[in-house]
Amino acid sequence: MSRTPLIAGNWKMHKSGAEAVAEAKKLAELCTDVEGTDIMIAPTNLSLPLVAKAVEDTAVKLGAQNLYFEKQGAFTGEVSGDMLKAAGADYVLIGHSERRQFFGDTDEWVCQKTRAAVESDLIPVVCIGETEKDRDEEKTFFVLDKQVTDGLKGSGLDELKTLVLAYEPVWAIGTGKTASVEQVEEVHRFLRKILEEKFSKDLAERTRILYGGSVNPDNVKDLMSVEDVDGALVGGASLDADKFINIIRYE
Ligand code: 13P
Repeated sequence: MSRTPLIAGNWKMHKSGAEAVAEAKKLAELCTDVEGTDIMIAPTNLSLPLVAKAVEDTAVKLGAQNLYFEKQGAFTGEVSGDMLKAAGADYVLIGHSERRQFFGDTDEWVCQKTRAAVESDLIPVVCIGETEKDRDEEKTFFVLDKQVTDGLKGSGLDELKTLVLAYEPVWAIGTGKTASVEQVEEVHRFLRKILEEKFSKDLAERTRILYGGSVNPDNVKDLMSVEDVDGALVGGASLDADKFINIIRYE
């Protein structure tokens, strides 16, 4: 089964509405002849409807950076999947390490958010990754197994059919330290094996597994050459369309 690569930009808490629109328009223009690669950017929620209008009918699709799992109600500061979908998102990041680290997102929440995303017809991009301490203590595979198992617990095959997993070692995020090709190869193979064991061979083969953590135009080709790497989740280097296009055109 061939998986269409996905190159995604997580803009985190950067850019005003006007800045986001300008950068997204520029990116859409640069992408007009890109074929065979899915492209997504995740601006802040405030910019989503503006950017959605700016990139309408282009190859650039939108994602949100988080959602809450309830549909509506007294949840001050939160946004539901349906609201994000209505604002123009097709994807949503779930369980990014910054959410886990600074905002207390747990595997249980990841699980509920993933189900909520699918219910709102959003493609869930479930982020997992070990800390430097986990790796030093040789707990990488234990941690990843737990994040996948608990984060997807109880989800049915049908619910997970659009699932995207993003392996982002915490120590590689925003540090300029990219995981080596060997490390990425080992982890992605392991993740596909877990998906096969816990769910099915078909699901394991169809799930796109992205790598994230200091991806840039210079290292993307090597990372994308790894058999089980189906795309990249890019932070800093996605903020500049001129840089990001070189990641999208990794070949
Ligand atoms: P950097 O590409 O800036 O390391 O960030 C990665 C990331 O967190 C994407 O979600």
